[in-house]
Formats: sequence, C-alpha cells, structure tokens
Amino acid sequence: MKPIRIALTKGRLERDTVSLFERIGYDCGELKQKGRRLILPIPDAGLEAVLAKAADVITYVQHGVCDIGVVGKDTIMEYGGSFFEVVDLGFGKCRFALAGPVGKDFYDGYHRRVIATKYPNVASRFFAEKGMDVSIVKIEGSVELAPLLGLSDAIVDIVETGSTLKENGLAVIEEVAPVSARMIVNEASLKLRQQEIEKLIGQIEETVGKQEERI
Ligand code: PRP
Repeated sequence: MKPIRIALTKGRLERDTVSLFERIGYDCGELKQKGRRLILPIPDAGLEAVLAKAADVITYVQHGVCDIGVVGKDTIMEYGGSFFEVVDLGFGKCRFALAGPVGKDFYDGYHRRVIATKYPNVASRFFAEKGMDVSIVKIEGSVELAPLLGLSDAIVDIVETGSTLKENGLAVIEEVAPVSARMIVNEASLKLRQQEIEKLIGQIEETVGKQEERI
C-alpha cells in the first residue's frame, strides 16, 4: 500500500511533530537523521514525511500531492485554501498581535495609519472588521524594524515570548488572534483513505489530549 504523505513545516513545527509521533510510538529515526533529504519514510506508521516551507505545505495538500499537512494557523489564516483543518496540535502556540512603539497612542489623531506586516491578508481583515482604513506595507521578516525606521505606525505580527517587541521598544496594542499548529487534510484523501487517516487522527488526538491533561 502506498504510504500516506504528510507535509511538515520545516523547523520548529517539524521537530514538535517528530516528538508527537515518537510519543505515539512511531520510529522517526530517518527523519531525525535526514541530512539534506526532503522526503523521509516513517515506515511503521505507513507514512512518508515531506519537509516544506509553511505556505508550500498548504499548496501540496491542496493539490493532493500530500494527503496531510502540519502547518501554523498563522499560515492558514493568511493563505486560506480548500482542505479540512482537523486537529489543533496544541504546539507552536503564539498569537497575532497589533504592536507599536511604547508610549505612543496608536488611535490618537486622524491620519491614515501605515501597518507593516508579513501577513497582509490577516492585517487587512483585522482593520476591515474595525471599519478602519489603513495602508498595509508587506515586509518579509524582522517586521519590528518598520516602526523603528519610521516606515509604519504599527505592525501586525506573531508574538511568542514578547522578547523581540520588548527589546525593540515596542508593545502589544491589541490581540488579533491565537495561533497554534494545525493538522490539515486534502479533501479527496480523506474520502479515499478514510480509515487510515481517521486512525492517524485518532492516535494524534489521544496523544495531544494526554499531553494537555498533564499541563
Ligand atoms: C517571529 C516574529 C517575531 C518574533 C516573535 O520572527 O515575526 O519577530 O518571532 O517572537 P518573540 O515574541 O518570542 O520574540 P522570526 O524569528 O520567525 O523571524 P522573521 O521575523 O525574520 O520571520
């Protein structure tokens, strides 16, 4: 039988997924010794792991070349797509927040605010819901620089520990949305390989549930 292909977001979510799989009892030896390989078997689970950038996880799952994906809710909120979001994996927890320079009232005055972000869709929706007309500037990384350099009034970004904001004289103005890693499934795969995928979802839910009971 063809293995079920699971796309993992390279980096922290990949490592957290490997430890989740090890708690379930899967042998992730190959994944842990991957070198530069991008497709790795998890033979005892009947899985094949594919290592990809976050937005590409969604692309591969949506096109059906991967059956399942592990990706952050931040990426799902920004890119959307048609797939089933089946499990909140409980790791990769952080939040989207609106943040700006400490001591400056973001809402003071009437000028059109400039917002820098890696997530223009998330930021646009947030301000549209407020009925506030802002100008969005897309930044690729270290978004905190934009208000420090005078490019923007504020940022919409991921905040985890809050250290990056604090060490750069910025603070959260408002929470936008909580974020954590999610498991997504291709719509056709869920129908065609229902039993195998539901078994995997069951094992994951049971293990994630046990973890949360301990916290
Ligand atoms: C993320 C995010 C913040 C930082 C938040 O950046 O964009 O800059 O982490 O984490 P903290 O609250 O724990 O300080 P990342 O490290 O992914 O780099 P990037 O901004 O260059 O994408």
